Formats: sequence, structure tokens, C-alpha cells
Amino acid sequence: MNTISVHNLTKTFRSHIKQEGLSNSIKSLFHREYKEYTAVNDVSFEIAEGELVGMLGANGAGKTSILKMLSGLLTPTSGTATVLGFTPWQRKNDFRRNFAIVMGQRNQLWWDLPAADSFLLNKEIYSIPENDFKKRLDNLAERLSVTDKLHVQVRRLSLGERMKCELIGALLHSPKVVFLDEPTIGLDVVAQHALREFVAEFNRDSATTIILTSHYMDDIERLCKRVILIDKGSIIFDGALSGLVEEFAAEKLLTIKFTEKVEQSDLATLGTITEFNPEQASLRIPRANIASVAADCLGRFPVADITIEEVPIEDIIRHIFNR
Ligand SMILES: Nc1ncnc2c1ncn2[C@@H]1O[C@H](COP(=O)(O)OP(=O)(O)OP(=O)(O)O)[C@@H](O)[C@H]1O
Ligand SMILES: [Mg+2]
Repeated sequence: MNTISVHNLTKTFRSHIKQEGLSNSIKSLFHREYKEYTAVNDVSFEIAEGELVGMLGANGAGKTSILKMLSGLLTPTSGTATVLGFTPWQRKNDFRRNFAIVMGQRNQLWWDLPAADSFLLNKEIYSIPENDFKKRLDNLAERLSVTDKLHVQVRRLSLGERMKCELIGALLHSPKVVFLDEPTIGLDVVAQHALREFVAEFNRDSATTIILTSHYMDDIERLCKRVILIDKGSIIFDGALSGLVEEFAAEKLLTIKFTEKVEQSDLATLGTITEFNPEQASLRIPRANIASVAADCLGRFPVADITIEEVPIEDIIRHIFNR
């Protein structure tokens, strides 16, 4: 059985339409008009134990709503889901003891207390044995380099330190499933990198099943072999990150260094020029033509070096979501 199993999950939010003006406000006290918005539309997927899956989508695509349903924070309008065999929104204790959600945009630690105090509370809530607690806390704090920050009031920590402490808080009870909703949002590149490497190592060592959302492609490329793309509440791709390139990248990137200066106009017939100076040019070439165009270049121009690359994933994703 898969660790996470989702069938036709749909969430429609109903919000009432506010009319302008006093008389309309009074009218709406007696007769409210509602509009419906489908944030998650008929989503189905399976995730096996130990997988680390990236969920990508533009702002408002429905990622957080999906994770909230899988955490039991939100009840779906229709559809089913099981996580570790439980229906999340039934909020059974055995389920809650085995999963964690970390939201980069929201705090779970007590703002006015040091993280260490919040962790003690977690220890009680999850009945973590004293020995395990101490061992895990020391280990996690060391791996995330925040050992000397645990006794500082959370409000005084930097954003990066706070996120690391949030992660520790979420992992102390050794959850089998972890949802990371933009854990690196707003962090500087150093903290982002540290967090990313920690998640990679943690997933590898503990075989924890993880769903990660991030707007940073570096996170996705480093961590996720598999990605699920969400567009306006629906899944538009579910598969290997490399498959995404094959399926959606219609072009490859050809870069040529010249031994002598060339004219930009001479290259125009080869493909779309993305960068040009007289000694070097980059072009986008349809995948099917790449070999013949490269051969053509070698014959026609004074070529010093030639490289063929995939279009950056970031560009592919932008292209998909802009369609
Ligand atoms: N409680 C709610 N009531 C009404 N609409 C909501 C509610 N929660 C979310 N939505 C709407 O549902 C849609 C999906 O929101 P969601 O937060 O799941 O997107 P997301 O993919 O996580 O976006 P982001 O990348 O910005 O975090 C949005 O249009 C949002 O405004
Ligand atoms: Mg979100």
C-alpha cells in the first residue's frame, strides 16, 4: 500500500459576495449571495514510502490547500485521501502522531519563548521518551547548526534560524510523513542551501515520505526526482523531473564560441538567438534539428567550441505556467 493515496480530491471554497454601499450591506444581512471557487479540482496521485515529491505551481494553484487536506486541517468538498492508512480529516491521534507539516509562511513555535521550551511542549504532546527526545534534539540541532540558538527567544532569531527551529520542532516526534510548504521562502542563499541539504540527508537517512512545495527551482532540482505540477487546481504533470524536460522542452540550447568575429545576421536562420556577441552566441534550436544545425555551424563558421544543453528547468516551468 502506498503511504499517500489521493483520489479525485476536490475543494471548493464558498465566500459571500460583498456589495458596496450601506443599503446593500443591510440587504446582505438578510440575503447573502455566494460565489464558489474550486481551489483543488479532481486531484489524484499516489506516493510510495520514502519518496520525496516536489509540488510546483504558480501562486494560488492549490498546493497549500492540498497539503492542508492531507494534514487534516481542511476537509475536502469531495474525493478521498489516505495518509499512512488514515483519512487525515478524521484527525485520529495515531495519524497526528505520525505526520508533521511545516509552513514557511506560518509559525508553530511560541514567539515569546525560546525554541527549547516549545520543544518540551512537543515532547509532552507526542509523549516522546526523555532519552529519545534528548538524542533527537541534539542531533537535529547539530545538523542544522542551531545548538547555541535553542535558548534564545524565538522572536529574536533570524528568519533562517527560526525556520531551522521550526523544522526541528516538526521532526522531534519522528513523523513518518512530512509536508514542507515553502520551507525556504525568504531565506538567503546560504540558509536555503543548508536547509535543502538537511532535507536531502534527512529523507535519505530516515526514509521519511516528504512532499515539498517551493518556488525555488534549486530546491526542486536538488531534492525531487519526481514532481507534480498543479495548474489552477488540477494536476497537469506527474512524473520524473527529467521527463518534464523531455515532455515540455521543445528546444535545446546551442552555444557556440567562434575563433573569429561573426555577424549576428548570419546566425538568424539557425534558430532563436538568445545571447550574442561577435565571439559567442547562444541559440534555441528545436530538439529534432539540433544535430543538423550543429553540423551546419561547424561547416559554415569558424567554431572554437560548441555545447548543447537542455533549456533550464526554470524556463520550462515558466513556459508551462504561462501558456
Ligand atoms: N479559506 C479560503 N477561502 C477562500 N478561498 C481560499 C481559501 N484558502 C485558499 N483559497 C483560495 O484557493 C486558491 C488556492 O490557494 P492555495 O493557498 O492552495 O494556493 P498555493 O498553490 O499554495 O499558492 P502559493 O504558491 O501562493 O502558496 C487561491 O485562489 C486562494 O485564494
Ligand atoms: Mg501555498
